[in-house]
Amino acid sequence: MIHAFPLPEARLLIFDDPEALAREAARRFVAGASRAVDGGGVFRVALSGGRTPLEAYRVLASDPFRYSIHWPSVELFWGDERFVPHDHPDSNYRAAREALLGALPIQAAQVHPIPTDTVSPQAAAVAYQDRLRRLFGVEEGRPVRFDQVLLGLGEDGHTASLFPGALPEAAPETLVAAVERPGDACPRVTLTLNVLNAAREVIFLVSGEAKAAVLERVLRTSRPDPALPATLVQPTRGKVIWLVDRAAAGRVEAADEGRVRQFPAGGGKG
Ligand code: 6PG
Repeated sequence: MIHAFPLPEARLLIFDDPEALAREAARRFVAGASRAVDGGGVFRVALSGGRTPLEAYRVLASDPFRYSIHWPSVELFWGDERFVPHDHPDSNYRAAREALLGALPIQAAQVHPIPTDTVSPQAAAVAYQDRLRRLFGVEEGRPVRFDQVLLGLGEDGHTASLFPGALPEAAPETLVAAVERPGDACPRVTLTLNVLNAAREVIFLVSGEAKAAVLERVLRTSRPDPALPATLVQPTRGKVIWLVDRAAAGRVEAADEGRVRQFPAGGGKG
């Protein structure tokens, strides 16, 4: 059985291929935006880094998805960033700009990349945290609560830049942290679990056979495990949805035959 550890809303949806996964992710982005905008508000979403979400971003930038969203009501953020210039090949902002932003009728003022031109990753974390506090209205007593957070899953169980053995000390008021690990190509800046676990909706996107082992470990754990940081993502008043393709679900699917909601290439519903 797939453990919800312990939130019953955590759900796993399996798709035939990465394209179907991407379409479902785009569909859920549109649904999230509609919910926020229909409520007269702004849709605040944190984009994931890495390669997996890029196909979903490209789908979002295409018809009909691009025209299904009231973009003036959307504010785009990032869940984490590599501390490199925004035109660097490793930049999550650059990847999203090329796959998505360039096609959207969105103003620069609605796009909030994590700064990487500060004197240090720590300064970038402070600057981004100040920006979040200002844009979410923390001084007016409002929480930093994203409507939707997209996350990936690393083979070591990391998500965003929350790595095993390198989890940032996050006092309750810490929203953004710098992460520097020996051997990493560059430092990183990441939203902390304080922010991820305040979100209304967290959507994990997991694709490829290389993720099958870690996905099984993560979904089977019966408790949050700092050695598998993705298991620490448990929004207190939100839901977690896992969108995975069949290649990534190879081990989970076999072990949980028939007890996991599966959807053909046409995408999932609900
Ligand atoms: C990053 C991401 C990271 C990513 C996972 C999965 O900046 O790389 O924040 O957490 O989501 O490493 O990456 P892939 O989607 O490329 O497998």
